Amino acid sequence: MRSILLIIGGGIAAYKSLELIRELKKRGIGVTAILTKAGEQFVTPLAVGALTGEKVYQDLFSLTDETEMGHIELSRAADLVVVAPATADLLAKMATGLANDLASTTLLATDKKVLVAPAMNVRMWHHAATQRNIRQLKYDEVTFVGPGEGEMACGEFGLGRLAEPLEIAAAIETLLAPGDLPLKGKHVLVTAGPTREPIDPVRYISNQSSGKQGYAIAEVAVKLGAQVTLVSGPVSLPIPPGAGMMPVQTAEEMLKAVEQSLPADIAIFTAAVADWRVASAAGEKIKKKGDGKPPTLSLTENPDILKTIAARKSGRPKVVVGFAAETENVIAHAQEKLAKKSCDLIVANDVSVEKGVFGGDANTVHLVSKSGVESWPKLSKAEVAMRLMQKLAGLL
Ligand code: C5P
Repeated sequence: MRSILLIIGGGIAAYKSLELIRELKKRGIGVTAILTKAGEQFVTPLAVGALTGEKVYQDLFSLTDETEMGHIELSRAADLVVVAPATADLLAKMATGLANDLASTTLLATDKKVLVAPAMNVRMWHHAATQRNIRQLKYDEVTFVGPGEGEMACGEFGLGRLAEPLEIAAAIETLLAPGDLPLKGKHVLVTAGPTREPIDPVRYISNQSSGKQGYAIAEVAVKLGAQVTLVSGPVSLPIPPGAGMMPVQTAEEMLKAVEQSLPADIAIFTAAVADWRVASAAGEKIKKKGDGKPPTLSLTENPDILKTIAARKSGRPKVVVGFAAETENVIAHAQEKLAKKSCDLIVANDVSVEKGVFGGDANTVHLVSKSGVESWPKLSKAEVAMRLMQKLAGLL
């Protein structure tokens, strides 16, 4: 069984480590925990032990513990060491190699990869000393997940919130992935973001798509070993490291870029392609005539990229996945789309305004295929990406 050693630092976010343990156990990942003295102020050893089902380690100088499992052995028994929450103090100790308690000694003695999920006050996070320690730790190949931005327990706002348990669990899954990664040697093609259809040189028709879900998928596919091509409309997101980027503006450009990128083993169409474009965009900026009559725009339909690719006689990717953003009858519409676009899977989500999917970090999706409907709980877009790619890798 895959297992981690979880070091729980002291901070109000320590309560989320309990949720993390539950999530990991659900995924069949064993957890042994070390609770620091400060961590103990926020969660009890009893609660941690009840969830891990294992002894909770707290003291460096404990004869009982040392006879059961010495601290050196403890540091190496698991496949991965995870520090969540990682306080400013723990990061500082790690960066300088201090070893004056069980957690810091274990971190210094381990020969395993280390993942840290920092959590602290925003000013502590931005402090030059913390930032220096983070640079050092990244140089030492420690992996980071988070922190996120938002309201803090102390009342301030900013960076320093512990990453969500689901996000930490996804990062753990990636690091635990075996050497022979499931998408090694496979080409994954992803479309993402909106398209932008010009009206004239300065105006355009577009939509609210942030591109976050598609970018998360591209990022996960890289991590699972795939060669990734990301065909993206204009978004303000960093390019996922390791993905081959093809920036486009219009639907027609997107189709061309997708066709140029074939062959692919898996093609995932997350882009919110504009259904229509202006039949003939003006070459010059359209002027107000001053007669109170607005110009009439004549629209024409854009190519359906997903449908075109899924219908290819030759060079169709083995697995073609569409996304369906719906505001009502989500599953029924997705089933229609599955048939109409002849794809293998539709990932359907409810984008009615109150769900906050557009631009948000979470998504509630239903996987609709010929074999039925699978509904997932509300997950971060990173987690949706991880679960989806693992599923698709299985299909190949
Ligand atoms: O917009 P619609 O709901 O039809 O989108 C469903 C799926 O089709 C999405 O995966 C989207 O990326 C894809 N699509 C496309 N080209 C279009 C319209 C949609 O690839 N012109």
